Amino acid sequence: MNEQKGEWFETWFDTSYYHILYQNRDFSEAERFINNLLNYLNLPTEVSCLDLACGKGRHSVFLNKKGLKVTGVDLSENSIQEAKPFENDTLSFDTHDMRKVYQKDTFDVVFNLFTSFGYFDNYDDNLKVLLSIHEMLVEEGIVVIDFMNADFVLDHLVEKEVKSLDGIDFRITRSYDGNHIFKSIDFSDNGKDCHFQERVQAIKKEEFEDLLKKAGFDIIDVFGDFSLSPFNRSESDRLIIIAKKK
Ligand SMILES: C[S@@+](CC[C@H](N)C(=O)[O-])C[C@H]1O[C@@H](n2cnc3c(N)ncnc32)[C@H](O)[C@@H]1O
Repeated sequence: MNEQKGEWFETWFDTSYYHILYQNRDFSEAERFINNLLNYLNLPTEVSCLDLACGKGRHSVFLNKKGLKVTGVDLSENSIQEAKPFENDTLSFDTHDMRKVYQKDTFDVVFNLFTSFGYFDNYDDNLKVLLSIHEMLVEEGIVVIDFMNADFVLDHLVEKEVKSLDGIDFRITRSYDGNHIFKSIDFSDNGKDCHFQERVQAIKKEEFEDLLKKAGFDIIDVFGDFSLSPFNRSESDRLIIIAKKK
């Protein structure tokens, strides 16, 4: 049995299986979302940004194509290795743990996209991540958080399903313990049984806004999908918060 060792987010995201299962979360989805975000943000030229928990860099690459100076960081060494070939004079990738400050007072915008938050056992680590984002931003810098809308996800939780991708049948089971949404992923590959589990805190809008305020941010806007429609608790699939460093 191939199982997770250490923290679930250190191992699962570093496997090729994560990228097979989430292959629909691709560069074209990222491109559409970034286009909408950049139209909304209307940033000046010469902007420097951090894609925090960038994965293989699908958003970083497009932010850079749109003229931004981009640093993408992620805990997964394999993902960063896959992102590295895209590097150029204004795009770089590095392995880094988001609970720590990467570079102080450096970035005009920090992006934390596609539910890259709420992973840690210690709830205080959520605030630690936001405080470190605060420290990495310049005065009046902007943070963009794209998280799940926990209310919507819980209302639509599919308890069991099988996804067949690239010859692998991923058997998925979802549950909720009052704090976390669990997703168990079981499959066999080449005769080997594998088990992984995702565990994400079901942080709701008000709780997220409180955390951001505690970390020294003003909330500017809250959207509910990648087209940046207004947030609606029962209908939006995403919780996209734009906040500014005080
Ligand atoms: C759901 S994926 C999203 C990746 C990317 N933003 C995207 O949209 O494709 C979450 C990412 O968070 C990264 N991650 C998990 N824990 C982390 C940590 N402590 N520090 C930095 N990155 C982390 C994972 O390696 C993974 O790439």
